[in-house]
Amino acid sequence: MVFLNCFTRNAKFIIDRDRVVVNFKRRFFYKKMIFDTHTHYDDDAFANDLDEVLQKARENGVGRITNIASDLPSIDKCLELAEKYEQIYCAHGVHPTECGEMTDEDLSAIREKLAHRKVVAVGEIGLDYYWDTPDRDIQRHWFKKQLQLAMEVQKPIVVHSREAAEETFRILEENYDGDGVIHCYSYSAEMAKEYVKRGYFLGVGGVVTYKNARKLVETVEAVPLTSIVLETDCPYLSPDPYRGKRNSSANLPLVVKKIAALKDVSEETVIRQTEENAERLYHL
Ligand code: NI
Repeated sequence: MVFLNCFTRNAKFIIDRDRVVVNFKRRFFYKKMIFDTHTHYDDDAFANDLDEVLQKARENGVGRITNIASDLPSIDKCLELAEKYEQIYCAHGVHPTECGEMTDEDLSAIREKLAHRKVVAVGEIGLDYYWDTPDRDIQRHWFKKQLQLAMEVQKPIVVHSREAAEETFRILEENYDGDGVIHCYSYSAEMAKEYVKRGYFLGVGGVVTYKNARKLVETVEAVPLTSIVLETDCPYLSPDPYRGKRNSSANLPLVVKKIAALKDVSEETVIRQTEENAERLYHL
């Protein structure tokens, strides 16, 4: 992929084969493309063919991507990817299941790395009572610490929450007054509405295409399209009919199709609106 960057006093032009982006005095004019707000391309699953995977995603209409860190080594890998690939942004944080050995020094190291221009969020952070390790107290402690960090640096958060619905909500209510996304949203439609009321986005991916996705389908129907962002969480959670196989951004058109059907709008509308949502989410 060839990007041509030309800077003038007020305008930035990014020209590539698929689209023209003009940012003139903060106004954008460009062809709408899918924004994958949550990937793990630093995962070993992509060690051998990432160039091809990203090329395929591009061919399937995926424009920009945010790659999400889960532990300290992955933070460095995320940065490498964001520096190598123009279309990749990243988020820095420690996943609840990975925070068992975390220290205050680690938090300071993350704070420094958050200053990089392509780091757009703190994440993924949260609570995971499905794997339920490390101790819940440790998970809560680092969740709160990282919420504080996000407020300090004024970046949005990417929240991972599994089987911890009430407590995640309560900790956010009591400890956080910024913005962000509840990634891979898996709770009730009622709770989704509460998050939406508070300005959060909900991450929706392959799960919405599954036969047993009743709760997520209800959620997508219940919240406005302006509060939904697309995500793969790849290499996990491939949409049907690829469930169980390695996921990638190239599969997102299947999720777009499903959401368009549920909301009774065109696929183009879903792509356009969710791309705008992702820009708002990540302050782009
Ligand atoms: Ni993830």
